[in-house]
Amino acid sequence: MHALPFSDTTCLLVLTGAGISAESGVPTFRDAGGLWEGHDIREVASPEGWEENPQTVWRFYSQRRRGLAKVRPNRAHEALAEVERKLGDRFLLVTQNVDALHTSAGSERVIELHGNLLRSRCTDCARPAFHDERTYDAVPVCQECGQGRLRPDIVWFGEMIDRAALTRISKFIELAARRRTAAGYAELVFLAVGTSGVVFPAAGLVQIVREVGGRAYLANLEESDNSHQFDEVVLGKATEIVPALLAGAR
Ligand code: OAD
Repeated sequence: MHALPFSDTTCLLVLTGAGISAESGVPTFRDAGGLWEGHDIREVASPEGWEENPQTVWRFYSQRRRGLAKVRPNRAHEALAEVERKLGDRFLLVTQNVDALHTSAGSERVIELHGNLLRSRCTDCARPAFHDERTYDAVPVCQECGQGRLRPDIVWFGEMIDRAALTRISKFIELAARRRTAAGYAELVFLAVGTSGVVFPAAGLVQIVREVGGRAYLANLEESDNSHQFDEVVLGKATEIVPALLAGAR
């Protein structure tokens, strides 16, 4: 396995999925024993499920919050936080995970595309989403407006991804793509870690990066749905391969 190609001007865009947290003990979605097992996705992760039975939804996310209390970031999360300290604004991390492990590891330039398990928001008033580690047996009411129901700040199936987040990613790619290496590549390296490549828009990032002339690498335990779109696929455990791939960052 080679380290990723870094120069003093390389911009690194990283996409992570459930696989990066697997070795921290957070179950992945689609692997055997995954999170959805025993739960109907529609029931706990869609606006329709919420309307039908918000109490079941809160029980499910409360259970997930309890599970998070015991997990810690691993070497792969830490390696990404370390590389960000070297690259500064030449680094952007997009995660599909809601486990907040990247921020606990010290990452700052993080876009949590699918929300954050430790945040809640009101379904009625304009109060911004807020940090919330509590667990609920009954549906909580917003203390600010006194009437709206609180819900987990998670992007459910059929819901929109935050537009500002998508714009921030596009801008990062655009800026990096303006600069070229001697070999004619864009000064953009894309690394996807621990993701099965089936959920969009995250799964479409590799194609965008390739279209602007960036180089794309996948670090995953097994081939993903879109591995054929990457320049190189490195198979293995995130805690072992991510630190090695990032060794040359400067
Ligand atoms: P998946 O569970 O679909 O895929 C996890 C990937 O990580 C698989 O390809 C595994 O092979 C790989 N993997 C497992 N252990 C690993 C390890 N130790 N090191 C490296 N790779 C490992 O998870 P995501 O791709 O993140 O969306 O799923 C995407 C989205 O689907 C989730 O964010 C969620 C779900 O529906 C929402 O909740 C909106």
